[in-house]
This record gives sequence, C-alpha cells and structure tokens, in this order.
Amino acid sequence: MDLGLKDKSVIVLASSKGLGKATAHQFAAEGARVFLASRDEDALEKTAAEIRDGTGNPSVAYSVCDIKNVDSIKQLVDQAVSEHGLIDVLINNAGGPPAGTFDEVDDDAWQHAFELNLLSFVRAIREVLPYMREQGRGHILNFASSSIKQPIDGLILSNTFRAGITGLAKSLSQELAGDNILINTIGPGRIGTDRVDHLDSVQSDKLGIPIEEVKEEAERKIPIGRYGEPEELARIAVFLCSLANSYVTGQSLLVDGGMVKAL
Ligand SMILES: NC(=O)c1ccc[n+]([C@@H]2O[C@H](COP(=O)([O-])OP(=O)(O)OC[C@H]3O[C@@H](n4cnc5c(N)ncnc54)[C@H](OP(=O)(O)O)[C@@H]3O)[C@@H](O)[C@H]2O)c1
Repeated sequence: MDLGLKDKSVIVLASSKGLGKATAHQFAAEGARVFLASRDEDALEKTAAEIRDGTGNPSVAYSVCDIKNVDSIKQLVDQAVSEHGLIDVLINNAGGPPAGTFDEVDDDAWQHAFELNLLSFVRAIREVLPYMREQGRGHILNFASSSIKQPIDGLILSNTFRAGITGLAKSLSQELAGDNILINTIGPGRIGTDRVDHLDSVQSDKLGIPIEEVKEEAERKIPIGRYGEPEELARIAVFLCSLANSYVTGQSLLVDGGMVKAL
C-alpha cells in the first residue's frame, strides 16, 4: 500500500528521543520531509543526523522549541513553513508530567502539566490550522496515554490532562472535518522509552523493590507479555497520518499490547 507520504511536510513535537523520535524516523523512512522539535539542541542535532543516516532521507530539519512557550511554538511553525512551504501533518507530543497522587501535587505542578500536556497541543493546532485549511487537507495526531481509557494509579496529572486531549480531539474532529482535516489520538500503553524507565524507577523507590521486578510485574499485566518498542507505535502513528487514512477522525486508539481491558 502506498502511504502517499513522499515529500509531505511533517512536524513532530517533542522528538529528540522516545516516541517522537521513533515516529519522526518512520515518517522520514516513508520519504516525508520531517521537522523535529524539543528543548535540547545537541540532542536534536544528533537525532536528526541519526534519522538522515538511518533512512537515507536528507530532509530532516529541527528547531529548538519549548512547547510550554507560545512564541516558541509560533517560531517553530514559521520555520517549518519557510523550509517546507506547507504543513501536512502535525504530531502533538510532549514530555510526561510528574508522577504523583492528588495529595502529592500542588498548584504549580497542575499549571505545569496543563501548559505542557494540553495547552501546548491547543497552541500547536492553532498555528498549523491556517496552512492546513488553505491546502484543504491535513492530519493531526495527539500522543496521550492508555490513561484515556483507564486511569493509572499515581499519575493524576496525566490522567486528567490526557482525558482533556480526547475531548479536544473529538470536538475538533467535528469542527475540522469540513476542511478535510482529520484528528486522532494515540494512547501508548507501556512502550520502552526513558519515560517508562523513569516511571519504573519511581515505583521501585516507592515499593522498595528492584526496578527489574517492577518491570516484570508490569509485563505480566500485558497480554502480549512485554513492553512495546517505539517503532511499533510509530508505524501506527504514520498510518493514521497517511493518505491511507481518509475516513478515521475523532478516534482514540491504544497501542498497548492488549493491556487495557476497557471496551
Ligand atoms: N512511553 C510510553 O509507554 C508512554 C505511555 C503513556 C504515555 N506516554 C507519553 O507519551 C509522551 C512521550 O513519551 P516518551 O516515552 O517518548 O517520553 P521521553 O522518552 O521522556 O521523551 C520526551 C520528549 O519530550 C521532549 N520534551 C519534554 N519537555 C518538552 C518541552 N517543554 N518542550 C519541547 N519538548 C519537550 C523531550 O526532549 P527535550 O528534553 O530535549 O526537550 C523528549 O524528546 C509523554 O507525554 C509520555 O508521558 C508514554
């Protein structure tokens, strides 16, 4: 199947490592022109070089961007448009919010998570919409969490703002369908990245057990029996944002090896 992504212009937020990086790599492998963004310039430069070398696609650019900062997002989109002329795909992604229960997080933590994990997506969508509307097409994909179907103990900030993302996406799917702009949300379960290592180490400290035991216990709850690989999520993300998807919008899809049992 031809995914129709050759020379398409793709922005992937929060893409110096982890799920964002794997997704950018997969788009580049399909011949898309990819624009990376995160805060660490050295990491971005290294990631861009790795993707170019790994895919043979030279069209991988980046912008240093703190997605909590509205001007930084505007600058990123301006730069992507001046490099590529248009925007076909926006992948909304962010670092994870701090772990904690209700009693453990204060107003500063709530505000931080709101700006990082919800407002940043709103702002990025606002910036790309004029270009997508002008073209009469576009794909937007949000990375959230399996918590959109089943809250995760000890992650109250994630549970709250990821649910907000699905409400935003469902509303926008109605408002943007007439412009031929499709918007969907992916919920990763446990995909092996630094974020999951970090959460496992928080749990290991809390329970006073080795991190390997935390991981084994988590893997026992996944019917497929292991953590996912970032590439396994990236392939689904790329498909949803390809020309092969012309009719799925407003949906939330878990990539979780069967972990969540909710219907
Ligand atoms: N991996 C999983 O299984 C899983 C499960 C559920 C949910 N998620 C969620 O999916 C998202 C991505 O997860 P991941 O595992 O790929 O995380 P990760 O490996 O920790 O990578 C996070 C990325 O976000 C960037 N970032 C963080 N804060 C940023 C900011 N203010 N502005 C711009 N970029 C920023 C980081 O780069 P810099 O530090 O260079 O800025 C990095 O590239 C997170 O929100 C995570 O909570 C992941």
